[in-house]
Amino acid sequence: MNLAVLGATGSVGSQTLSVARRRGHRVVALAARRASPEFWRLVEEFRPEAYTFDEGSGEAAFGRRIAGPNALTELALWPAVDTVVLAVTGFAGLAPMLAAVQAGRRVAAATKEAIIAGGDLLRGAVADGLLLPVDSEHAAAYQLLRGRPPETVRRLIITTSGGALRDWPIERLAEAAPEDALRHPNWNMGNLITIDSATLINKGIELIEAHVLFGLPFAQLDVWIHPTQIVHALCETVDGALYASLARPDMQLPIEQALAHPNVPEGALRPLEPEDMAELRFARPDPRRYPSLRLCRDAGTIGGTMPAVLTAADQVAVRAFLAGEIGFASIVPLVASVLERHEVVESPDLEALTAADRWARQTAEGLLRRSEVR
Ligand SMILES: NC(=O)c1ccc[n+]([C@@H]2O[C@H](COP(=O)([O-])OP(=O)(O)OC[C@H]3O[C@@H](n4cnc5c(N)ncnc54)[C@H](OP(=O)(O)O)[C@@H]3O)[C@@H](O)[C@H]2O)c1
Repeated sequence: MNLAVLGATGSVGSQTLSVARRRGHRVVALAARRASPEFWRLVEEFRPEAYTFDEGSGEAAFGRRIAGPNALTELALWPAVDTVVLAVTGFAGLAPMLAAVQAGRRVAAATKEAIIAGGDLLRGAVADGLLLPVDSEHAAAYQLLRGRPPETVRRLIITTSGGALRDWPIERLAEAAPEDALRHPNWNMGNLITIDSATLINKGIELIEAHVLFGLPFAQLDVWIHPTQIVHALCETVDGALYASLARPDMQLPIEQALAHPNVPEGALRPLEPEDMAELRFARPDPRRYPSLRLCRDAGTIGGTMPAVLTAADQVAVRAFLAGEIGFASIVPLVASVLERHEVVESPDLEALTAADRWARQTAEGLLRRSEVR
C-alpha cells in the first residue's frame, strides 16, 4: 500500500512509520512542520515521491519538495497515494482531510481537532469507509458499532485514564507545573494531547469526535474514568447489555486496523491475558475536577464554528501553560472565555472555519496579553 504520512515526525506519525516498515507499505509522500534532522532522516530512509515542511530549508537529492499553503492538500491528493495518514496537530489537518475524502480517497485520521472542526462537512465519510479513526477509543467504538443497527444502540461510552493529575487534591490543581501535567499514566504522546488529557479537554474533544464520526447525539455519549485503559470503548444496547472492546493501550492497533480495513491485521498486538485485566475499575468523572467535559459537550451541541474555536483556543491556552504564562487551573477558563465571546456561524464552509480558527487564536492571545486570565 502507498501511504502519505502527514505529521511523520510526531508520536502517531512515527508509530505509523514503524507499521509501514513492518508491513512493507511504501511511503510516497511525507510531511512535517519543521525540516528537522529527524525529518531528513525519514526522507532519506523512505525516499518519498513528494515531501513538505513549513519551517526551515533544504532539498533532498530525490523526490519533489512541495511548498506553499496548500502543500498538505497536494500531498493528500498525490496520485500514487492509496491512503492518507493524517497525524499533524490541529486545524491544519482539515483541508487535506476534506480534499482527500471528497476525492474518494481513504484517510486514516488521528487529527481530532480537524475532525471536530470539520463536523458536518465530514458527515457520511465514516459510513462510506473513507474516514477511519486512528484513536484508541474511536477505533474501538468503530469495531463495536460496525454492523449494529443504530436503533439498537442506547449509549456509547469512551474511557479515560483521568490524566496525569487524576489523584491530585482538587484544591492543589492550580499549582500543577507542566512537568506534573505531562506525566501521563498510560500513554507517551505529544505535549498538546498530554496536557489535554490532564484537563480532560482531550476527552471532551473525543466526545465531539464520536458525535461527528458516528452521528450519535450527545445524550447517547458518555465518558467513564478507567485508570488502566484496557477497555477503550463500551456500547450499551437497548436490551441493557454492555459490549466492551479491550486491548493493550498501544496506538499500533488503531493504526494497523485503519490501514488494513476492512481486513483484520493479524498479529498487530500481543493479546491480553487474565493477569493484564486484574484491575478493571471504572468511575464517573467528577465535574468539579473536570469542568472541561461540560464545556466541550456544550460546544459540540451548539456545533457550527464552535468546535473549531474550542480547539484553537485550547492550543493557545496549552502553549501559554507550557510557557509558564498561566497556571494549570486557568486553561479551561481561558478556553471558556473565548467560547463565550464567539458569534457562531452555522453550517460553516472551510473558509468560515478557517476564519473562526484565526479569530479564536487572536482572541485567546488578546485575553492573555490583557492578563484577563491568569
Ligand atoms: N499521540 C497519540 O497517541 C494520539 C492518539 C490519538 C490521537 N492523536 C492525535 O493525533 C494528532 C497528532 O498527535 P501527536 O501526539 O502525534 O502529535 P506530535 O507528536 O506533536 O506530532 C505532530 C506531527 O505533526 C507535524 N505537524 C504539526 N503541524 C504541522 C503542519 N502545519 N504541517 C505539517 N506538519 C505538521 C509535526 O511536525 P514537527 O515534528 O516538525 O513539529 C509532527 O510531525 C493530534 O491531533 C492528536 O490529538 C494522537
